[in-house]
Amino acid sequence: MYDFDTPAPRTGTGAIKWDLRQSAFGNGGALPFWVADSDYMSPPEVVEALQAAAKNCVFGYTAPTQRYKDAVAGWIGRRHGWQIDTGWLVPSTGIVSELSNIVRCFTEKGDKVLIQTPVYDPFAGVVRDAGRTLVENRLLHDEHLRYTMDFEELARQLSAGVKMMLLCSPHNPVGRVWTREEVCRVAALCREYGVLLVSDEIHWDILMPGRAHFSAGSAGTDGNVIVLCAPSKTFNVAGLKCSNDIIPDAALRERLIKWKESFHMEGPNNMGLAACEAAYTHGGRWCDEQNAYLWENAALVRETFARELPQVRIAPLEGTYLMWLEISKTGLGSRAVCEKLNRAGAILNDGYRYGDDSFVRLNIACPRAQLRAGLDVMVDCLAGELKP
Ligand SMILES: Cc1ncc(COP(=O)(O)O)c(C=O)c1O
Repeated sequence: MYDFDTPAPRTGTGAIKWDLRQSAFGNGGALPFWVADSDYMSPPEVVEALQAAAKNCVFGYTAPTQRYKDAVAGWIGRRHGWQIDTGWLVPSTGIVSELSNIVRCFTEKGDKVLIQTPVYDPFAGVVRDAGRTLVENRLLHDEHLRYTMDFEELARQLSAGVKMMLLCSPHNPVGRVWTREEVCRVAALCREYGVLLVSDEIHWDILMPGRAHFSAGSAGTDGNVIVLCAPSKTFNVAGLKCSNDIIPDAALRERLIKWKESFHMEGPNNMGLAACEAAYTHGGRWCDEQNAYLWENAALVRETFARELPQVRIAPLEGTYLMWLEISKTGLGSRAVCEKLNRAGAILNDGYRYGDDSFVRLNIACPRAQLRAGLDVMVDCLAGELKP
């Protein structure tokens, strides 16, 4: 069994989540549940691969090897049932910067780009910062806070001149793992209206019991798709800046490669490549055990709030390690709630930044003892706001 209970030593390492607590939130002692990385150690197999690479004592220019590409393709085939050609891979240095490249490469200033809100805030950022027009397709939810897509509105919006859709799958922050039917419907609409589908699947391995990820790449898009994935969330290697674009269509792929070359952009570095290859070669069992651990963490959150503070409702977690908590009964907006939580000693993300001020986002990828201590702080603090 792998160890998820021992905290990783992160303070003083430059870890954004820990070392920016004081400057970003004014409370350097608060427990951090914000930035989406994990507070236990990466898999030993990944650490050993990095140590072996360091032992070589050479850190020269490195290109992705065929062995690396086979490892990525093997993982995708085994874990996600999608058989890719390794020629479709375009290794990249992070998903957000790649989303920005893709928006700029395939659309013109003023073009419409659609996102589904509430969503990870850089989605709006990469569209707006490129001078493109943001089209917001609101997700719907039922009384249990289970989210679905508004397909009628989506069809109407896509038919009205949208050039690109950014899909978040699984979805941060609402925790949905889109089903095969949902993904295929999105893909069919994009095909019908000539919209390039760009699917950010960075959370695709982090699946709760009974959930299976269905990649937009296997949704019959006729090549009209770019899938972005990375080992960064699954194996806690985000700082190594290694991600992968999968672009089945040769013309799209060549266009993006040429566009990036025109800006003299480089690919991932040797340590990122080594970590990714090791993770995708040896990380299956670790990934399964992590998912089981996260599911128990999620149960702890659900049970704690159900028992202590049922006024705070929680969206069902199907995938990702990010929980979406509804705090509207406090009568406060999410930024005010987060401000109070920060001062009390727990740092969460406000839902305002993702497009819904009635929620806050809680990262549960941490040792259980840390989560338990954080929940005590959250319950105490929010109970004060929810007194009858
Ligand atoms: C949906 C989604 N995309 C991308 C990222 C960040 O990816 P990267 O660090 O590779 O830019 C995150 C991180 O939380 C995310 O949730």
